[in-house]
Formats: sequence, structure tokens, C-alpha cells
Amino acid sequence: MTKPAALDIPLKASYNVVSQTYKGTDIDIHEVCEAMRKKTPIYEGDFIAQFGVPTNAGLAQGTKPTFAVFNYDDVMTVLRDADTYTSGFILKGFGAAFEGGLFILGLDGEQHRKVRQLLQPAFVPATVNKWRGKMDRVIREDFLQPLVADKKANLMDFGLYFPIRIMYSLMGFPENDPEQYKQFASWSLLMAGANQIDPDKIDEAKRLGMLAAQGLYDAIKEVVVKRREEGAEGEDLIARLLRADNEGQRLTDHEVVTFVRSLLPAAGETTTRTLSCILVMLFTTPGLLERVREDRSLIPRLIDETVRYEPIATFKVRETSREVEMHGVKIPKGSFVQAMVVSANRDEKVFENPHEFNIDRKARPSFGFGFGPHMCIGQFVAKLELNCALNAMLDLYPNMRLDPDYPVPKIEGAQLRGASEVHVIWD
Ligand code: HEM
Repeated sequence: MTKPAALDIPLKASYNVVSQTYKGTDIDIHEVCEAMRKKTPIYEGDFIAQFGVPTNAGLAQGTKPTFAVFNYDDVMTVLRDADTYTSGFILKGFGAAFEGGLFILGLDGEQHRKVRQLLQPAFVPATVNKWRGKMDRVIREDFLQPLVADKKANLMDFGLYFPIRIMYSLMGFPENDPEQYKQFASWSLLMAGANQIDPDKIDEAKRLGMLAAQGLYDAIKEVVVKRREEGAEGEDLIARLLRADNEGQRLTDHEVVTFVRSLLPAAGETTTRTLSCILVMLFTTPGLLERVREDRSLIPRLIDETVRYEPIATFKVRETSREVEMHGVKIPKGSFVQAMVVSANRDEKVFENPHEFNIDRKARPSFGFGFGPHMCIGQFVAKLELNCALNAMLDLYPNMRLDPDYPVPKIEGAQLRGASEVHVIWD
């Protein structure tokens, strides 16, 4: 795989760029949202501006009338009604790094529905569960077992690498170049980092984002073309996408390449961040670690409650396709609406004691994987990966606990949340 010198950036450095870009000010977003829920259901203005982070609107942020909503019901309305609250503008936010090809997150209406129908079968639990053995093997053999004798680790070193390593394998890339997935991981983060609001960083970030996008395109295209030629057999994602057929509608090579490319950032650092949040909650909630160690059937609840309590993506922005009225406020056509997921997930009207982390709470939808037509298509993949990773850690690292030589890890960030390090020891 050819690699422009400018892109010779290690994964951790790319991850830090994304973390810094989306971390923002030290304002506690949970606190500010709680105050807003008490004060008003709708904020007229750019609520996100105070956090100093880019939104999906990129440079268009601040150029249109903007509103923010905080309640469970309103966030649900915005995410559910994708015809009124549209996503097409997202493409421009990331600039040319994602332009052209299949970027499903930025599709609207009938076009989105058709593509989603075509892709969906590759992501349903029946398909995804077939990958469990492969995931488990990669996590245990490639990552966790080699560390057993060390009796200590920063789990986020593993957390940073394993989601892309798994996607690399599930997608059906050749396994003869074990280092290539690290390159993929780093480049996918450079694409995500191209969405900047800092004028001093925009040009360089976009340049790197474009180079990374092209590098990924070329590498993925090579594999896709070869797989098509060979008959696209097998259960891996690329083969399934090449064979996908919805009433005669099929994906071109270009669409498969650009979709696979867009999956890397969607599937990689989201899972990394979510794992960090789960681990922080697992290690810092009294009694929880012992319960989960003894009863692994609690892991799905642990994942769901973390995704409610600490969604790694704190808000979603949409653009109105018509004038709407909410709580007596007229929102003109063409406005940005900031749906505050982080607030809705702790709405007192819906969740009892919302600021309590409680894996036993009554199950009900929250918005950490989104909601409605754009709801995360990869959520079953992510949940299975996280489940395998947690089980493997608990199996392989006896009496795993936080390392007392390090500060207790903290979840932080205004737009993208997570903990950068989780140091543990075991017996
Ligand atoms: C824990 C990890 C993950 C989290 C928290 C997460 C979160 C989300 C959220 C919130 C959305 C909705 C975006 C919106 O409404 O604008 C989304 C969409 C999406 N996610 Fe995930 N995601 C995760 C893992 C994955 C994985 C593993 C994959 C792929 C295998 C994936 C692929 C996608 C795709 C393709 C979309 C766009 C769907 C559409 O627009 O119809 N995600 N994700």
C-alpha cells in the first residue's frame, strides 16, 4: 500500500487530534443541559457554540438560524422525522474528504431508505452473530492473551486498536499484512479530524483528511475489484455488499469502496470511546465489577446503561426542510436544530433518578446509537464486539481492578466523550 509521507502519523496521534478537536471547553455538558431542561425546552441560538467544538455543519455552523432541544420527546421527534429534520448538509461539514460515493449518514428521504434497505441485511443480528467466533479469537489471541503475564495494562491501548482490527477482518481484507489495519485506523481518524472550526488548523486538517481519504480509497478499491473478479463469495462484509440486491438495485464498486471507507471512522473510534466509558462505569460504580464478573449475562445491560448515561456523541444536528413550530417557537425552513442526546438520555420526566448509573433500570430506548431512520446500522456489531471484549478481559485477567498508581479515569469531552486511559492490574 503506498503511503504519502505526510500521512505517516501513528494511530494514537490521530486519535488525539480527534479527541482535542471534539473535546472543547471544560464546561460540564451534563450540568448545563440539566439547567436548560429546568429553564426552557428550546434554546434559540447556537447552544453548542459555548463548547468550542465543531458540529456536523462544519463551516456552515453559525450561518443559519439555530435552535437546540433538550427533552426526550423533542429529541426523539427530531431524530425520528428525517423528512423534516434532514442530514444532507453533513457532507459539506466534512468537506471533500467524504464527498462522492456512498456516505449514508448524509443521505435523505427515498435515497436514504433505498440504500439502507440494501445494506441492512449485512448488519442484522442473524448475520452479525456469525462473526462472534472471529471477533473472540482476534480479541483474545491478538490482543489480550499476550499481555497476561504483564499483570498490568492501559486498557485503552487495546481499546484504540481492536475495533478497527475487527472491522478489518469482518470486512474481508486480506490477513497477510497484519500492520495494514493500523494504517487504516489512523487514516480514518484523519478523515474525521478534517471537520475543524479552528481557522489556524482548517487547511492542514482538510489537506490531511483528503490525502487519507484518497489513500483509503485506493487501498479498498484494490481489494473490492479483486473480490468482485473472484466471484465475491463468503460471509465477510465486502462480499455481502458486492452481492447485495434489493429488487434489482445493486451497489457499484465505487459505492462499496466509499461505504466501506465511511464505516471505518463510524465503527472505530465510536467503539473505542464507548469501551472507555463502560470501563470507567464498571470500575467506579460500587459493587458493579463483582456482580458482572460473577454474572456475565449482565453485560448487555451494562452496555445499554452506559450508552444512556454517557453517550459518546453528545448531540446530533439536523436541518429543517420546512417551517416547524416547537413549544410555540417558529423554526424557519433551513434552520439547524441541535438535538441534545446527552440531555434527553437524562430527562427526569422519563428516567427515574437519571443521574444514577443503574444497570437494573427498566429498559427503554435512549439515543446513544441515535434513533429513527439513521439509527446506528452497526449497533449489533458494536455490542457484540464490546461484549466479547469485556468477557475476554474478565476471563483472562483474574481480579482485574484499577491500578492505584494512576488517577481514577474520567470521562470528558463536550462533543465526543470518553476516557483516554484506563490503567488496570490483575493477579
Ligand atoms: C459503540 C459504538 C458506536 C456508537 C456509539 C455509534 C453511534 C452512532 C450514532 C449515534 C449514529 C446516528 C447518527 C445520526 O443520526 O446522525 C450512528 C450511525 C451509523 N453508524 Fe454507528 N455507532 C457505533 C458503532 C458502529 C459500528 C461498529 C458500525 C459499523 C459496523 C457503525 C456504522 C454506522 C453507520 C453506517 C451509521 C449511519 C447510518 C445511517 O445514516 O443510516 N457504527 N452510529
